[in-house]
Amino acid sequence: MLSHSLGPVPRAARESMLAYYEAWEQHTSEDAWATSWWEMSARVGDGIARVLGGAPGSVQVQPNASIALSSVASCFDFKESERNKIVTTALDFPSMDYIWDAQSRLGANVDIVHTDDGITVQLEHILEAIDETTCLVALSHVSFRSSYRVDARAIVERAHRVGALVLLDVYQSAGALELQASDWEVDFLIGGTIKWLCGGPACGYLYVRPDLQSDLHPRLTGWVAHAAPFDFASAPMRYDQSVRRFAQGTPSIPALYSVLPGLQIIEEVGVPAIQAESQRRTEWMIEFALDRGWKVNSPRDVNERGGSVMIFVDDGPAMVKRLAERKVFVDCRPGVGLRVSPHFFNTDEEVREAMGILAELI
Ligand SMILES: Cc1ncc(COP(=O)(O)O)c(C=O)c1O
Repeated sequence: MLSHSLGPVPRAARESMLAYYEAWEQHTSEDAWATSWWEMSARVGDGIARVLGGAPGSVQVQPNASIALSSVASCFDFKESERNKIVTTALDFPSMDYIWDAQSRLGANVDIVHTDDGITVQLEHILEAIDETTCLVALSHVSFRSSYRVDARAIVERAHRVGALVLLDVYQSAGALELQASDWEVDFLIGGTIKWLCGGPACGYLYVRPDLQSDLHPRLTGWVAHAAPFDFASAPMRYDQSVRRFAQGTPSIPALYSVLPGLQIIEEVGVPAIQAESQRRTEWMIEFALDRGWKVNSPRDVNERGGSVMIFVDDGPAMVKRLAERKVFVDCRPGVGLRVSPHFFNTDEEVREAMGILAELI
């Protein structure tokens, strides 16, 4: 139950990785790019776009989520504009913190909305922080720390009203919850595939709202983002008109092969069914925990939660070890305790057994 960290390997991934090896071997004597590799990142991007509720042509694969965020950051010129505020929250993944902190050297004014309880961030506080000087609201859709989920629609609505853009880090929600990138009119989504999407390390992605794409010129760039990459033309850069303008250099082809089987399974099972099962199971787990007087460090309301349940225990690392000895795989984070994440491949019996073993060990 580790899908918040590292999902299991789909059985079909072995075949896919062998297919990669064979293609690589053969491609030494033919044009790998022309025969398959060029279109493969677009195909994976479109598969991810379906999971995000976005249109075809809205997702560019990236080396990882941190680079995806850096690509977006590199689109702005903070020193040149009065609109230089970045709104983030205290529950975001540390990459966000590091990357925005680095942008403050380039003139970004970073406003980190605080958390009162270490579990949630009040929506009003996020909305209050968004004003006419805001360039971008960039925060986790679902927090890796507490599984707290923000209200995407309310944030996008407020940001767009004052001319700001919105980026959501959906690493902890894509594949577990139904996302509606197009309907939300969100500007950017970032994430990766190794957790809830059962892909290999490492394949990140960047969704950019289709009608915004051509306005942006990322400084983090490379030849693959050029309109005519095989012309090998000199600067100035001529960005491609498609979402490929957010690429950099040679894509990680093995990562693409590692992602396809998981994506296919997620699409076959269907995110609506996955979400329904996840919510039913996490409800049950929370009731089980509260009945025993345990402290749950995730929101009680299903509409404010992702697919994980955080349960406080006294010595997290020791408990993780003892659970692993009983074949229950979870992890822990300082301050919140255990992170437990059932996904579609788990059975109800497994979830009950895992919680029963935890009860025994506590
Ligand atoms: C919410 C969230 N964002 C970002 C990351 C980091 O992603 P990457 O390693 O692809 O940069 C993680 C990884 O755990 C995460 O949980």
